[in-house]
Amino acid sequence: MTGKRELILGIESSCDDTAIALVDRDGNVLGAEVATQELIHGAHGGVYPEFASRAHARSIIPAISKVLEVSGVTHRELRAIGVTRGPGLIGSLMVGLHAASGLGLGWGVPVIGVNHLRGHLRSADLEQRRVTYPAVILLVSGGHTFLAHMESPTEVRMLGTTRDDSVGEAYDKVARMLGLGYPGGPAIDRLAATGTANISFPRPMLGEGLDFSFSGLKSSVARYLEKNRDPVVADVAASFVRACLDVLIAKARLALATNKSSALIIVGGVAASPQLRAEAKSLTDEMGVDLCLPPLKWATDNGAMIALAAWDYVERGHYPAPIAQTRIPLSMM
Ligand code: KG4
Ligand code: ZN
Repeated sequence: MTGKRELILGIESSCDDTAIALVDRDGNVLGAEVATQELIHGAHGGVYPEFASRAHARSIIPAISKVLEVSGVTHRELRAIGVTRGPGLIGSLMVGLHAASGLGLGWGVPVIGVNHLRGHLRSADLEQRRVTYPAVILLVSGGHTFLAHMESPTEVRMLGTTRDDSVGEAYDKVARMLGLGYPGGPAIDRLAATGTANISFPRPMLGEGLDFSFSGLKSSVARYLEKNRDPVVADVAASFVRACLDVLIAKARLALATNKSSALIIVGGVAASPQLRAEAKSLTDEMGVDLCLPPLKWATDNGAMIALAAWDYVERGHYPAPIAQTRIPLSMM
């Protein structure tokens, strides 16, 4: 034992937050920093790509310096830099990729391009090994919604995906219709907890396999709001959330019933929803499998998940180039 720490610096800048973290090969997080852009985009009700890139450019080096300084880590302890290479906003991704490439060159550290979704897939193992494989994984983020089967941390087989909007996108759009601002997920959740699910919105594609569709549900909320000029907004939120959860839980149940699995993993920003967490717990208790969730702070976008996914590549001696691509099929990750 040499006593030398080996860490990966994770850099995530695919959307609206500059997120940095230092992670060891067991998933322990030694330091993390998020420069949030909530104030910048909140005023516009959504992410403004040019403002996002500029904010990343301002914060990225200070955020990296701060994480290293606060954790008392020097670049000599870095085994690699893991950086999100896509999917995401191209300008925002480029800021992270250029910072990572420059630092990697200067420090003599390899730079690994990590698919953002691959990061989410590994987030439930951060800070403690939680996941027992094989597992069914439900990814519910702002950009994606899918179900997959994982034989191991690196073997992913898609089971079903959304044909249009992701569930997080539907949350954000409905939040905007209800005047709740951006980001909408947490606001909808809080409001829904105070309302009654007494409006019957559709449950899209329920009973039709493992694919999802959320744009019809979102439109039906819009139509309801057009027809009802003085709605009880808490009831609209509660009814919308009920419809989303019914679909997510039913499809997770079907995936567990038809695929050999000892756990259900739920990751992505919507996995921060207390209601989804509670209903997933009832489901997994009923099915006799483990429920594996990321700690709340690692459910939404973060640098730690990117670093942990980069460790998987280091362990296999495979260093994917940190090139920017906005769309990479999961099978190529
Ligand atoms: O994974 P994520 O941070 O970013 C993407 O990769 O897209 O997910 C962001 C999404 C947003 O749609 C946001 O509204 C939603 O996650 N979200 C939530 C909660 N926190 C964030 N949705 C429901 N309940 C929450 N507590
Ligand atoms: Zn994400």
